[in-house]
Amino acid sequence: MAQPRILILGAPGAGKGTQSAKIADHFDVEHVTTGDALRSNKEMDISDLGLEYDTPGEYMDAGELVPDEVVNAIVDEALSQSDGFVLDGYPRNLEQAEELEGMTDLDVVLYLDVSEDELVHRLTGRRMDPETGDIYHLEYNPPEDAEVEDRLVQREDDAEDTVKERLRVYRENTEPVIEYYEEEGSLERVDGEQAPDEVWEDVKVTIEDAA
Ligand code: AP5
Repeated sequence: MAQPRILILGAPGAGKGTQSAKIADHFDVEHVTTGDALRSNKEMDISDLGLEYDTPGEYMDAGELVPDEVVNAIVDEALSQSDGFVLDGYPRNLEQAEELEGMTDLDVVLYLDVSEDELVHRLTGRRMDPETGDIYHLEYNPPEDAEVEDRLVQREDDAEDTVKERLRVYRENTEPVIEYYEEEGSLERVDGEQAPDEVWEDVKVTIEDAA
């Protein structure tokens, strides 16, 4: 199979990052993630856009979307440099979905389906290893190594109030994107509420069948 071009959609906490890491490894494609790209550029000066905030970080810590101008440029640049990819975190509104259409074709559009109660539980319990970037969960997936456990940190936007705002922004802006791909007939739903390995089995088979 040629390197597939995969889009992974889902609410905050649905497991996009967890599954994208497995996809990138197994299918030998690049993991293009707007969340990580923006976290690495939280202090970037975007004051010349004359919008509400002057840096991406201020939007992220408030649980709001970073302006399309900034995110579109990041994705366009990243996709132009990769043959196959798994795109995670974009598009998050209909304008971005239209922009993406002009950038590339997609082989598979995956949607990880998870209920809202479970999303809140996953996000507030998520911890990251700052040295490796690995994602853990205090209850579902704690590290085995005590040294790793001691250095885990919580993402600033995983505080409960910000999580609620992120889910509200998701419902308002990103659910229409799910409907857009559903109406187009390209959306492949995966039950994201299963254990991570079971989700991965379904994700792998869906990509192999569709790509
Ligand atoms: P981003 O980093 O993209 O965050 P997100 O979409 O909110 O998604 P998350 O990373 O929180 O969740 P995930 O689905 O990857 O879940 P994970 O695998 O970690 O974006 C952050 C911010 O950047 C946005 O709020 C916005 O401000 C900005 N931004 C990004 N893209 C943008 C765009 N296109 N336009 C504008 N602004 C943009 O899993 C979560 C937890 O659950 C983990 O602890 C994990 O261990 C656990 N877990 C995973 N799978 C399972 C499972 N099957 N069972 C049990 N636990 C599980």
